[in-house]
Amino acid sequence: MPDPRFPFGSFEFSIATTLIIFVNLYLGVFASSLRDPVAQQHLDRVLKLPGQNFDVNFAHYSGYVTVNEKYGRALFYWFVEAVEDPQSKPLLLRLNGGPGCSSIAYGMAEEIGPFHIKPDGKTLYLNPYSWNQVANILFLDSPAGVGYSYSNTSSDLLNNGDKKTAADSLAFLLNWFERFPQYKGRDFYITGESYAGHYVPQLSQAIVRYNQVTKDEKINLRSYMVGNALTDDYHDHLGLFQFMWAAGLISDQTYKKLNLLCDFESFIHSSVACDKMEDIAAKELGNIDPYSIFTPSCSANVSQSNLLPKRKHRVGRVSEKYDPCTETHSTVYFNLPEVQKALHVSPEFAPARWETCSEVVNINWKDSPRTVLDIYKELIRSGLHLWVFSGDTDAVIPVTSTRYSIDALKLPTVKPWGAWYDDGQVGGWTQEYAGLTFVVVRGAGHEVPLHKPKQALTLVKAFLSGTPMPTLQLVSDS
Ligand SMILES: *[C@@H]1O[C@H](CO)[C@@H](O)[C@H](O)[C@H]1NC(C)=O
Ligand SMILES: *[C@@H]1O[C@H](CO)[C@@H](O)[C@H](O)[C@H]1NC(C)=O
Repeated sequence: MPDPRFPFGSFEFSIATTLIIFVNLYLGVFASSLRDPVAQQHLDRVLKLPGQNFDVNFAHYSGYVTVNEKYGRALFYWFVEAVEDPQSKPLLLRLNGGPGCSSIAYGMAEEIGPFHIKPDGKTLYLNPYSWNQVANILFLDSPAGVGYSYSNTSSDLLNNGDKKTAADSLAFLLNWFERFPQYKGRDFYITGESYAGHYVPQLSQAIVRYNQVTKDEKINLRSYMVGNALTDDYHDHLGLFQFMWAAGLISDQTYKKLNLLCDFESFIHSSVACDKMEDIAAKELGNIDPYSIFTPSCSANVSQSNLLPKRKHRVGRVSEKYDPCTETHSTVYFNLPEVQKALHVSPEFAPARWETCSEVVNINWKDSPRTVLDIYKELIRSGLHLWVFSGDTDAVIPVTSTRYSIDALKLPTVKPWGAWYDDGQVGGWTQEYAGLTFVVVRGAGHEVPLHKPKQALTLVKAFLSGTPMPTLQLVSDS
């Protein structure tokens, strides 16, 4: 049966016929037909993935969208429609951080996406808490050089920064909506974590400004939500050192020296003296996972092999629910040629080796403003209500950092601090300000949906519906 949402069911046939009959004459027409964005949507449809031993009742698509023709930059996306009734569900863009990390590696494969990867690096399983239960999710690898996103101008990879990332991401969206016109004007949300604490507000600002100038209505930005997000270098540093000290991870002396040498530094471009102090702190931490300080770290001899995880004999895995080695599984999976083929990754543009995070992109990062709080203010003034959450066992951008940053906005409180509940247990705490909702997710690390998938789904539901986090329902009185 033809997909009712795709109005060009006979496209392939007519093209094939044309091609056979007028192969030489109509070559030009053929090429331009393929450039028809909606036809490209159909070609981007992913049918079945290697290692997918189950059926899914939603459509998904992946491919490249050109963001700069002159330099030949194209960003790679993977778009997963909602499980039910995608026409009525919002559109959610997912960005991960780094800078240099892939939203497909993290967002899709270990956090909010439907397809997660088993430890064999070959088999997929369905994430029961996938956010495509409530939204159509667009995963974007940005900027060029991240994941499968590429540039024909190799120097592009050495010249990425915040500004270019926002500009390219906006160009991506404008072109993507031409390929998926059925989503034009749909309620649109952006979410991300970590360094996407820069990307998400910056892209939102670019969209708001673009819409103001052009009166274009295809990107109907409603809000954004960031988690464990880099927001303001000074407050993030202050909160980070305080958290590490209070959690008992570093010595008194190191705490003092970190504050002295790093508080006023850039997170991304720090001084040698601050770097040295952070190295000392890292040694004191020992081999814990700073992204989730109370769970085992991935010690599956990964540092020795640095490639494939040792499969069955992995140490440090006490919980079935959380596998600290998930990144190593996706590194295996997304390097498989058959996986790349299924995802429409062209061998011509595929990276020599797909990586969860690109070090080249990361170490060559250019502009990284010390704060994005000014953007928060601008967007709140423009009428957006923003959401910020934090997993409270993260020692990379901890809850203390986020609280200091929010406090610096000096927003009036609308609803005071209080616990929110999940199945009768405290899922965390929340406070509502004028223009911003803050949510703590109890016991979650840096990647909240990885550690607390059920609570994260509750969170995104509240975010998308603009309702407060659930409180305890008292059933006794009636
Ligand atoms: C990169 O170069 C190849 C070969 O010339 C071309 O086919 C491709 O379209 C270019 N990519 C972009 C994004 O322009
Ligand atoms: C890790 O490597 C060491 C040294 O090669 C070996 O003795 C140990 O058994 C390995 N551990 C696991 C869990 O494979």
